[in-house]
Amino acid sequence: MSRKIVVAIDGPAGSGKSTTARLLAKKLGYIYIDTGAMYRAVTLFWLRKNLPLDEEIICKLLPNISINFENDAGVLKIYLNSEDVTNEIRTPEVTNNVSPVSAIKCVREFLVAQQRKLGEDGGVVMDGRDIGTVVFPDAELKIYLVASLEARIQRRLLELNQKGAEVTFEEVRKQIVERDIIDSTRQHSPLQKAQDAIEIDTTNLSIEEQVDIVYKLALQKINNL
Ligand code: DC
Repeated sequence: MSRKIVVAIDGPAGSGKSTTARLLAKKLGYIYIDTGAMYRAVTLFWLRKNLPLDEEIICKLLPNISINFENDAGVLKIYLNSEDVTNEIRTPEVTNNVSPVSAIKCVREFLVAQQRKLGEDGGVVMDGRDIGTVVFPDAELKIYLVASLEARIQRRLLELNQKGAEVTFEEVRKQIVERDIIDSTRQHSPLQKAQDAIEIDTTNLSIEEQVDIVYKLALQKINNL
């Protein structure tokens, strides 16, 4: 039987990471781990407490946080202390606060340790910002997805409109640009392409095309082990 590898997929918001990672995991029969959802769950926990954005305060909350995933007929569900928060972690309030929360060192250490545990036996596709650089620097396959700002805004806009959210192109543009700046300039594990990552520009690719490219790369790795 072939060994199960770790596939790390990083890139900025709207570059196609989660869609690609989810569909690739399904094709390979692997587990999909959405690490952004974990940072969102911590942010939601803190928001519910109505506490200031203070590093020391947030670090003290972490021992009270337990995060779990469940695959529900192909849909990845995330649980915060046994409560299904799959939808709530996508609210604008969480989205607007997740970048500063995820820049805090203790939050990153807390979640990176759990991510490493989830992927220790291989057979996972993990997407995020620092998977190929920090969480799994030895991942067998590292993908770095990019897309033009215009394409990334359009995708997010479509996703939000489909969920019934009334947002404008300009509002989404502002959100994405702000998150890009915080995510790529923060001190601890900023968004960065790993030296050995394969960069794919998804601007003009369909979902099927981008999944197919990554799937072929994964098969090559698996077959050459
Ligand atoms: O992928 P996403 O939009 O759900 O991620 C939400 C935020 O979490 C993103 O703005 C940056 C942060 N994040 C991170 O710092 N490291 C990761 N591995 C994944 C996400």
